[in-house]
Amino acid sequence: MVRLRAPMAPHPPDHSLPDRAAPAAQIGVFDSGIGGLSVLRALRAQLPSARLRYIADSRHTPWGERPAAWVAERCTQLSAALLAGGADLVVVACNTATTQAIASLRARWPQRRFVGIEPGIKPAVASSRNARIALLATPGTLRSERLQHLVQAHASGVTLLRLPCPGLAEAIELAWRDDRDLLARLDDIAAQLRAAKVDTVVLGCTHYPLAAAALQRRLAPGTVLVDVAQAVAQRVASLLPAAAAGAAEAAPPRLLATGPAQALQQASRHWLGLDLPVETLALPDPRSPA
Ligand code: DGL
Repeated sequence: MVRLRAPMAPHPPDHSLPDRAAPAAQIGVFDSGIGGLSVLRALRAQLPSARLRYIADSRHTPWGERPAAWVAERCTQLSAALLAGGADLVVVACNTATTQAIASLRARWPQRRFVGIEPGIKPAVASSRNARIALLATPGTLRSERLQHLVQAHASGVTLLRLPCPGLAEAIELAWRDDRDLLARLDDIAAQLRAAKVDTVVLGCTHYPLAAAALQRRLAPGTVLVDVAQAVAQRVASLLPAAAAGAAEAAPPRLLATGPAQALQQASRHWLGLDLPVETLALPDPRSPA
């Protein structure tokens, strides 16, 4: 996978020196489920002493086919929980949520910082040798206005295959107990990507990097998979230098789930090498129609 520079964000960087005596900043992270662990992994690598708190909305995962108003309301609830818990910055570790809801989060909390993740169309275009790229994302991300802007801004000169992957995030959620559905879906997706002769594939959902190795094995040799998690972590580090302060080794991330805990527990063991308890976070359901 390619490693990418941090995307631009509307807030100026904080150049103040971290107070070495102060505890490291707390970073709140959320996703519909386990996908945001691909971002949490990059945050831990970039900011090993940051205090991290992660919420998986396992009660409602997946979000990819839900209405934008529902997604925005759920993101507001999860952000409110993270901010009330002391988060200095919130990472929206979900493309579906970023493309549909980050603007409303910033409007609601103009004094707080939110860093999102969007499909890496621009770096994919830069990396492609044959000007044929594919974007794998949820239906919600693909129909969002922000995605149309990204495509217009960066992909006008290339052939772009947009591949909605309904069910793929859910298959990744369930793969800890049975990966047959996931592998069958990857076979099908890989066949479409090979037929389209793309040489670069944007992983436009944070769940997909968790299945990147299995997808890569099914593609033509040399196909580049683009994941921007590291760029997001670099962006967070530039905004929150205090996240690197404090103890050299921070406490492990605190993991919370709004519903069943097993997928998050298994995935954090597998992807982060951490055997951690998962706490339950009780939240009301959104009132918007799902
Ligand atoms: N991981 C999310 C994303 O980046 C959401 C997937 C889903 O819940 O459908 O889009």
